[in-house]
Amino acid sequence: MQRRSFIRKTVAATAGSAFLLHNDTLAALAHELSGFRRDNTEQLARDERFWLPVQRAFRPSPHFINLENGYFSPMPLETQEAWMDNIREINGLHTFYMRRRQFSERENIRQMLAELAGVSPDEVALLRNTTEALDNLIMGLPLQKGDEFIITDQDYPNMVEAAHMRAKREGIVVKTIALPLHPKSDADVLQAYERAMTARTKAMLVTHVINLTGQVLPVRELCQLGKRRQVEVLVDGAHAFGQLNFKIPDLDCDYYGTSLHKWLCAPLGSGMLYIRKEKIAHIWPLFGDVSTGEDNIRKFERNGTQPCSNHLAIANAIRFHQLIGSELKEERLRYLCHYWAEKVADWSHITLNMPLARGLSCALGNVAVKGMTPAQLADFLYDKHRIFTVAIDMPTVKGVRITPHLYTTLSDLDKLVAALKSLA
Ligand SMILES: Cc1ncc(COP(=O)(O)O)c(C=O)c1O
Repeated sequence: MQRRSFIRKTVAATAGSAFLLHNDTLAALAHELSGFRRDNTEQLARDERFWLPVQRAFRPSPHFINLENGYFSPMPLETQEAWMDNIREINGLHTFYMRRRQFSERENIRQMLAELAGVSPDEVALLRNTTEALDNLIMGLPLQKGDEFIITDQDYPNMVEAAHMRAKREGIVVKTIALPLHPKSDADVLQAYERAMTARTKAMLVTHVINLTGQVLPVRELCQLGKRRQVEVLVDGAHAFGQLNFKIPDLDCDYYGTSLHKWLCAPLGSGMLYIRKEKIAHIWPLFGDVSTGEDNIRKFERNGTQPCSNHLAIANAIRFHQLIGSELKEERLRYLCHYWAEKVADWSHITLNMPLARGLSCALGNVAVKGMTPAQLADFLYDKHRIFTVAIDMPTVKGVRITPHLYTTLSDLDKLVAALKSLA
């Protein structure tokens, strides 16, 4: 009852703005975390006492260990509750909400996201996922027959399909390069792109974090290469936003798409498209629009009736994210990934399909066991050890992807290591 009246008061105090529910839960977590010094990120990332209340803020299934968080992130319980309250509230207010409140509240969320990304709200479109964001870019970039578009053999299938559809429909030329998995330096990756460039190259796709292996690409250098060669660089940031500690201007990029339901832990079906202000007029929106204004980022949002309850809960996800902080979150996720990977790296029956260098990997990893297909290994881990992962069986990468999350415990990872050891 006390909590309910707190919530009512919070809503009353913020009437007319986004629903700010369940702040009490967040305040309790903030209080628990406030007892820890923040001056040594590396140390705090390894301090299990700090992470215990963070783990408790999630409620994973007790029936198995989930090491497949790359697909999407669970919402923390507080975000879930706020999201469900939003659904109830919007259904209660019904069209009154849609007609009188949705647009101003969407602007509040846009503002929060823009601050998190370090850009202007006039450069941020709220969309459903990375696919929608990147399809706006890939389909909307003005290209002509014969213009070349560079992609890699490890880009995400949805973006690859979109590029090939433009090739089929308009005759653009898609050039697929091989991305080095264990590059000696960033220069190896840059050279792979640069070698494919010709005078006809107009655009290239750069995936910030490769979903198959967790490899982090040198996005800033690639964007600068694109600028030098007058090639538009479209960045697929599906896995990076909310996982890595950066602001979009750090990347020097003009175009960036991401899913907020991945590492930011926002509701499923929330994504973001960033386009540098001067470039907005340059891109045709995927859904027809001629009246919003050519250089208005909102022209990309004419995609019908919106999941407003999702949008509102992005605010809760951002506040949760900020309680931990981007720098510490990245450090913890990398620690969890390297915790298991370093233990198995030297075993002769193991192949790590991931770079272990600090700047080249974070939360996602990929492991193979000699003599087993990826599907056999994933089944073994689940059937014998109740560890859930995903088999990656692509021409470029064959192994099982391992993705811990903030709620993963070291004991979960020890079980993975023991299961892999038993296959020696
Ligand atoms: C690198 C990459 N890009 C794009 C996507 C597509 O994300 P969504 O399904 O949220 O659009 C994914 C999904 O896992 C991905 O890993």
